[in-house]
Amino acid sequence: MQGKVTNQRFSPIRWVDETGSTNLDLLADAAAGLPAGAVLVADHQTAGRGRQGRVWLDDPGRSLLFSVLLRPAPATAGLVPLVMGMAVSGAVDDLADVATALKWPNDVLVPTAGERKLAGILSEAATGPAGFAVVVGTGINVSFGGQPPAEVADRAVDLASIAGRPVDRAELLDAILGRLGPLVDRLDAGDAVGLLDDYRTVCATLGRSVRLDTPGGELTGTAVAIDPSGGLVVESDGVTHVVLAGDAHHLA
Ligand code: BTN
Repeated sequence: MQGKVTNQRFSPIRWVDETGSTNLDLLADAAAGLPAGAVLVADHQTAGRGRQGRVWLDDPGRSLLFSVLLRPAPATAGLVPLVMGMAVSGAVDDLADVATALKWPNDVLVPTAGERKLAGILSEAATGPAGFAVVVGTGINVSFGGQPPAEVADRAVDLASIAGRPVDRAELLDAILGRLGPLVDRLDAGDAVGLLDDYRTVCATLGRSVRLDTPGGELTGTAVAIDPSGGLVVESDGVTHVVLAGDAHHLA
């Protein structure tokens, strides 16, 4: 289904019925030299990719599934998923009149719905002859059609239920891209400090007791700060750790 997306800042915006993974497709396009700003949207993915090597499942037409190709300076690539989280969170707040929050690094949660997850973001970087690229992909639960899938019922929420009305996916994508453009411009202009200040205001993980599942193992402590690269600073038994990748679980 082709939505009526009007955003002019990002181009081309392609909307397909089905693909394996919009992230994987844009990574291939990036390797072939496609410039920054391309967007790929799919009604359904047959091999959706989640964080930490997980799969991302969807029922056709019930999610907004899209990826954006960016070409930031490599040193700022770690901020791309945070910036996308801010764009999604802000757009949802506008459309649904709720206050969403981000669980580090970028899960979009709805605090008034028991911190259930509304959206997930996966950022993947690649370097090749065509230069450095980051593909940042987002999956948003737009409508469960009544009942959430049983396997995520205790931890996921859909936009239709929090907005109290059906939300058009093209309208949602327009709202997100409208917020993403200025954030990417700030990233490209070197405003990492200002972006991180803004991120901290919507990050629900700061100040919380957390368990981190990282590639290097599990860590429990208090999330005390976001470091300049976007990493989570955790104090555990008097030792300060900077976690650059992993899953955060809010314990209290
Ligand atoms: C997560 O695990 O929370 C991140 C999920 C990211 C899913 C999106 S859907 C669009 C894009 N294409 C993919 O294959 N994954 C991302």
